Order: sequence, then structure tokens, then C-alpha cells
Amino acid sequence: MDVYYKEYLGLEGLLNSQKERSKRHDETLFIIVHQAFELWFKQILHEFDSIIDIFSQDSFKEKDLGLCLSRLERVTKIQGLFLPHLEILETMSPMDFLEFRDEIRPASGFQSIQFREIELKMGLPKEVSTVSDRTYFLEKMIKKEDLDYLEGIEQEKSLFDLLENWLERIPFMLNERFSFWDQYKKSVEIMLASEELRIQNNPLLREFESKMQMESLEGTRETFDCLFSSEKYSSLGRRLSQKATLSALFILLYRNEPILHIPYKFLSTLMDLEENFTAWRYRHVLLAQRMLGTKIGTGGSSGAAYLKKSADNKKIFEDILNLSTYIIPESKRPLIPAEVRKDLGFYFEEH
Ligand code: HEM
Repeated sequence: MDVYYKEYLGLEGLLNSQKERSKRHDETLFIIVHQAFELWFKQILHEFDSIIDIFSQDSFKEKDLGLCLSRLERVTKIQGLFLPHLEILETMSPMDFLEFRDEIRPASGFQSIQFREIELKMGLPKEVSTVSDRTYFLEKMIKKEDLDYLEGIEQEKSLFDLLENWLERIPFMLNERFSFWDQYKKSVEIMLASEELRIQNNPLLREFESKMQMESLEGTRETFDCLFSSEKYSSLGRRLSQKATLSALFILLYRNEPILHIPYKFLSTLMDLEENFTAWRYRHVLLAQRMLGTKIGTGGSSGAAYLKKSADNKKIFEDILNLSTYIIPESKRPLIPAEVRKDLGFYFEEH
């Protein structure tokens, strides 16, 4: 027999790698659920590495985006398994967990190097990841060789960086025949002016309500203004550059143009990726709360409170999600001249 199932899959090692430290029945489940996560993390990193490789190539063509998209979609399907995995773990009661919890201290998911690698490869900002800060807590919790490894990953280009570079390079809006942004600004002005009229003419609003709505409208107007002035844009404190933001917005607004289908799907899948991780983080907070209440974690953090803060702070593609601020109704969208539409449909200029 050339290829034997259990040897091919390395089952000998895999099925003997559950090293319980207690005699408690539920510890096996605890280990297997964590191991299942780590296997899926490995697959996610495999997909991320290939996407990063493709995006990093000098000859990156828009058709390569289709391959990156299918790999990113695979990652979002894998993420779909995460919440059910946590549900399986919740068949263990807090009391059963307490029976062996002391045996595993100070091991903690906090030390999952693959999870940290996923965060860094997606593009978690340095000031949030704190890998290179080597805080006392990090140095106590994570071995030096692992921190060195993660610091190396932190220096590399992340999905966020590569996405931003790609968006900044997209050529189609620079087409001289179509000054898209001037037209977009006009559409925004028309939309906001009709909104203003609606507020002024609404007989149901009392004076202070009308004033409040006008102030809020002014806020919206300023937010739109920020898009077009580099000075004002930097005051927004966004991470994604102004140029990349405008490209992404163009893709979202004209997603139905054939050439923009895949770029649109790619951006939309990145939003799924972000949402799924964030949902996992908040679900994990609830799990920790259910298992520990307000007790500290095995890793020594404040437990659920730490995790909640982490879920709030660790957003990577938030600027892409926030682009909805600038979406205008389809009916108010500037029309693309026929010759530009033809160009968009048939070729994508190389750079
Ligand atoms: C009984 C089940 C679980 C409990 C009570 C729990 C609790 C905690 C707590 C309290 C922390 C904060 C660090 C600490 O003080 O230890 C943490 C971190 C973490 N846990 Fe869990 N956890 C559980 C299951 C899981 C599972 C199944 C995974 C999947 C890999 C996981 C992944 C993580 C990760 C990645 C972190 C670091 C999060 C960050 O720093 O943002 N945990 N966990």
C-alpha cells in the first residue's frame, strides 16, 4: 500500500496530541476545541500568505484579484465554523471547567501565536498589537522566540497595506474625459439641499427639533467635505489614505459595472472577514463571562473586561465599513459617459 490513510494524514501524531493534565472528563473537549481552532488558523494563514504573495507581485493583474477573492471567501466560510465551535465548548459547565482550570494556568488563548499572526497579517496597527513594545505583560506571557517571530511578521506588508497600495493605483478614475468627483460633489449637494428643504418644510418638527436636524445635516455636509480636502481628511483620523478611500468609494458606487464586480466582491468580502472576526471576539467575551463571571483569566488578564476592550479596539478594515457614510442613492449617482463605461467594461489599464 503506497499511501495509507492514517499515515498520509499523520493521525498517529494528531490523535495522540491531547495531553490532558487532569483526570476530568471535559478537559479532552477543551483541548480538542482549541486544537480544531488552531488547525483552522493554520489554513487561514495559508490562504492569507498566498493572497499577500499575489498582491505583492510587481505584475499583479486585476485578473489575479479573482483568485485572491476565492481564497478570501474560503476564509470567511472557515470563520463560519468559529461560533459553533464555541457552542460545543459551552456544553461544558463553568463548574466542570473550574475542576481543571488551575491545572492549565497560565496557558491561555492569549498565547496563540497563530491568532496573533492572523491579526498582524490582516494589518492590526502596531500601536494596538504592541508586539514591538514588549510590554511587561507580553514578555511574561509569550516566549521570546515567539515574540521575535511576531515582530518579524509585523515588519512585513499586511493585507491592509497591500489593499491600500492597490486602491491607490487604480487608474480608471483619472480618465480625463470624466471628472467623476466634480459630478459626485454636485450630486451630494443636490441630495443635501433636498434634505435641508425637507427639514425646513416639515410641519411636524418643533423649532428645537428642526434646529437639531439642521445641525446634524451640517455635520454630514462637513463629513462629505473632508473627502475632498487632504487637510480636512487627515483631521478625520482615518487610517486608509484619502486616495485609496476615493477609489474604494468609486468601486462601491459603481459595483454593477462589469469591471468592478470583482473589486466590489473583494471589498465586500473583506468587510465580511472583519465582521466575522469581530463577531467571534464579542462571542468569546460572552463565553468568558459565562465561564468565569468577573474572575481573571488563566493568562492573568482582567478576563471578560480585557476581551471586551480588545474586541472594541482590534478593528482593521473599519475605514472600508465606514465608507457607507459617503454612499448616495443610486438615483443621485452621476452617470458615467458611454465611452468611459465601454472602457470600464473591456479593459483595465495596466500600471
Ligand atoms: C472555557 C473557554 C474559554 C475561556 C474561559 C476563555 C477565556 C479567555 C480569557 C479570560 C482571555 C484573556 C487572556 C487571559 O487572561 O487568559 C482569553 C484570551 C484569548 N482566547 Fe480564550 N477562552 C476560552 C476559549 C477559547 C477558545 C476555544 C479559543 C480559540 C482559539 C480562544 C482564543 C483566545 C484568544 C485568541 C485570546 C486572545 C484574545 C486577545 O488578546 O485579543 N479562547 N480567553
